[in-house]
Amino acid sequence: MTFTQYTRSLEVLPTELALRQAVSVLARLVRDSVFLDSHILPLLDEPAEDWYVAYREDLPIGSTSLQVFVWPAGTRTMIHDHACWGAFCCVVGTVFEERYQRLDDGSLADHARLKKHWQLPWSLEDGISTVLPGARGIHRVGNPTEVRAVSVHLYGPRLGEIDGRDYDPLCDYVCDRPHDRIRARKQTPETSR
Ligand SMILES: [Fe+2]
Repeated sequence: MTFTQYTRSLEVLPTELALRQAVSVLARLVRDSVFLDSHILPLLDEPAEDWYVAYREDLPIGSTSLQVFVWPAGTRTMIHDHACWGAFCCVVGTVFEERYQRLDDGSLADHARLKKHWQLPWSLEDGISTVLPGARGIHRVGNPTEVRAVSVHLYGPRLGEIDGRDYDPLCDYVCDRPHDRIRARKQTPETSR
């Protein structure tokens, strides 16, 4: 079964319902032997120093996006959010997710005050993590272990020119992240998804 068949009509659903469906789609996809053989196995030995998006498949413009992330040991994203909903499942190794709460009201430009809310490890048996759009889904994903991890992500429809926002809690800073800054395979650091 193809990704397109899995995600048929996902893009037309309201966020909460789409996320529920995305969890179901991901749960089937990460146990699909054809998908695993073709999209995950080849990534296990690819040399890489930083995390990257190894595979991306977008349904027609404005729709759902499937992305496969590779996490070499010791790599992690910036703290960020997404303009759309998202869900991911770690299929190889373990990633850790930190989730943050925003304490300010967003009224000051470029300013955001964050507090860490929780941190959880995610392996295949832990299931699927979901994030809501914007400040309801501020997080960081990384791999502090000593072995590579690979995760499969679904993102909701592209809603505008902004992919999400990047945060720096050390100086209470937040800025928009354009879509073209999403990291493709094996590019340089300092961008995030
Ligand atoms: Fe994210």
